[in-house]
Amino acid sequence: MPRHLLQLEGLDAPALTALLDRAESFIPAARGEAAAPASLADKLVANLFFEDSTRTRLSFEAAAARLGARSLALQGSGSSASKGETFLDTALNVEALGVDAIVVRTDLSGGPAQLAQHVRCAVINAGDGRHEHPTQGLLDCLTIRRALGGFQGATIAIVGDIANSRVARSALHALTTLGAKVRLIGPPTLMPKSFVQVPAVAENVSISNDLDANLHDLDAVMMLRVQLERAAGGSIASDYRVQYGLTRDRAARLPARCIVMHPGPVNRGVEVDDDVADDRRRSQILLQVTHGVAVRMAVLDYCLSR
Ligand code: CP
Repeated sequence: MPRHLLQLEGLDAPALTALLDRAESFIPAARGEAAAPASLADKLVANLFFEDSTRTRLSFEAAAARLGARSLALQGSGSSASKGETFLDTALNVEALGVDAIVVRTDLSGGPAQLAQHVRCAVINAGDGRHEHPTQGLLDCLTIRRALGGFQGATIAIVGDIANSRVARSALHALTTLGAKVRLIGPPTLMPKSFVQVPAVAENVSISNDLDANLHDLDAVMMLRVQLERAAGGSIASDYRVQYGLTRDRAARLPARCIVMHPGPVNRGVEVDDDVADDRRRSQILLQVTHGVAVRMAVLDYCLSR
């Protein structure tokens, strides 16, 4: 049976910790400071990206290369999807090329899970609609663990367009499972009630529409990208920065220990001011990208090593 990574919901703390520990061991190789064992030397990984990506696609390629695997790349534009070939047919044809894993990004929530029922190779979710972005959730956890030393007692704010964010869903599941408290902060229109109706996580999760009232005791603040390409993006109030942007003034009111995170791409001057995004004492934004390579090495290794 292939091993897939389809979502973080349902993974327990030992499983999450094992992936984070493995990723931690790959950080020197992800930085290019040490060689990793070529444990995937005979493996072929197909990256199917039906939505745009910079960080996730390239870091999966980097991760595969660091472990000795070869990557094939297919993007939605330029593929036969433009001629009407379905998502499933495309993936089945890619599997027929003899690949060992399919890394897939799609706007179809649940698309990777559907695919996993039809293929014999490993399937790794690189972001599916509004559902999950599990490797982003893992790299966020790795970044927090390295900066704070752990999750117990930590208070993490996830701020912004929660309703449309697969990043928020993956982070919420992983952080609460690992023992952190999560505050979801954003406009009422972008705050799905379903997030706190999950009994297992509800006691560690609070919801607020007031960012200013929550700044004083945070250990980490994860600013989400306003998803301008999704339906709700167009209806975001024009004063988003005034209400929910991490401005220089708001950053000054965070505790000194508090780190600033953003999954990228950043809408500068909307979610985060330039000064805050570029403050290397606090901002983890580029570290998150490096940790993303280590996490994807760990995930490829988990899915493909035997
Ligand atoms: N964070 C993230 O998923 O970035 P990309 O869309 O560039 O992959």
